[in-house]
Amino acid sequence: MKVLYPPRLSLAQLPTPLVPADRLSKRLGGPRIWIKRDDQTGSAVSGNKIRKLEFSLAKALEEGCDTVITCGGVQSNHCRTTAILCASLGLKCHLILRGEETPKDVAADGNLLLDYLAGAKTSFYSNRDYQARSDQILTEWEQYYKSSGNKPFTIPIGASDGTGLWGYIAACEELSVDFTANSINPSHIISATGSGGTQAGLIAGNELFGLGSKVWGINVCDDESYFLQKVRHDLRQWAKWYSQSLDVESLAINVIDGYVGSGYAKASSDVFETIKLLARLEGVILDPVYTGKAFHGLIDRIEQGQFDDAGDIVFIHTGGIFGLFPQREQISF
Ligand SMILES: Cc1ncc(COP(=O)(O)O)c(C=O)c1O
Repeated sequence: MKVLYPPRLSLAQLPTPLVPADRLSKRLGGPRIWIKRDDQTGSAVSGNKIRKLEFSLAKALEEGCDTVITCGGVQSNHCRTTAILCASLGLKCHLILRGEETPKDVAADGNLLLDYLAGAKTSFYSNRDYQARSDQILTEWEQYYKSSGNKPFTIPIGASDGTGLWGYIAACEELSVDFTANSINPSHIISATGSGGTQAGLIAGNELFGLGSKVWGINVCDDESYFLQKVRHDLRQWAKWYSQSLDVESLAINVIDGYVGSGYAKASSDVFETIKLLARLEGVILDPVYTGKAFHGLIDRIEQGQFDDAGDIVFIHTGGIFGLFPQREQISF
């Protein structure tokens, strides 16, 4: 199918490899697991966000923006990726961060360290304040930049909106080439879901490129009902903004819920064991906030027999390695 993409910057190292995790698959005794290595879209700007930002930042530049505002948790992969890409494009970047600022006598770690290195401006808000009025905070900063003669462009959390969604539509075009090259027709595509845009893009792309897979998101925060609504919202926004004829109301949204544990970014010892298992068996490094939690859920469902007749399945490795370092003390060897 011919898909007409909106303006796009070439920022990610593409295509990423699709590799079989055969030692793991053999050990689990279920389907053949393939891993789409979107952790290799770059080094410092690795992960899923760069695919979305190729479209979001193209729109920002098209609109003449000089300052990008975006938001996320203190260890947000999305914020780190945005900060570094803005530096590479000569744009100012302001990050609205949910959580505590690192005390002056403690060195910044993980993603936050890279945010500072890339020269992003940061503003910290308590969880409570952020939850209650994040839209208002973003609007206030937008007003601030406008009134001081700048041209701000706000990217929502995770770049999950009608524009960012194109990133994983394009990834599906790439997957269709991968599937042909490997002579496979995977029955399931699975990824971690945090703000919904990756899943929404995969759902639309799966349909547009006729992959014939069932797309699953394993939520790492909130719950199934939240993501059913959020992913549908992003799909509707994409169809409306880009006048798409695809009937987004008929697309199935599948969520595997039950693996959030005690909360966002809080991982149990089982998740860290999964991270160790993948590192040792396949040389693949997962993170405790997104991919490790999701992969732990996937292994659990495979062991329960959910994918027994699945043949080939694909896990999208969405990156996140820098989120591992601030949680180093939780890993036991
Ligand atoms: C490493 C990683 N994996 C997965 C996700 C989830 O993607 P999305 O926000 O598009 O649901 C995110 C961001 O939220 C992430 O940083």
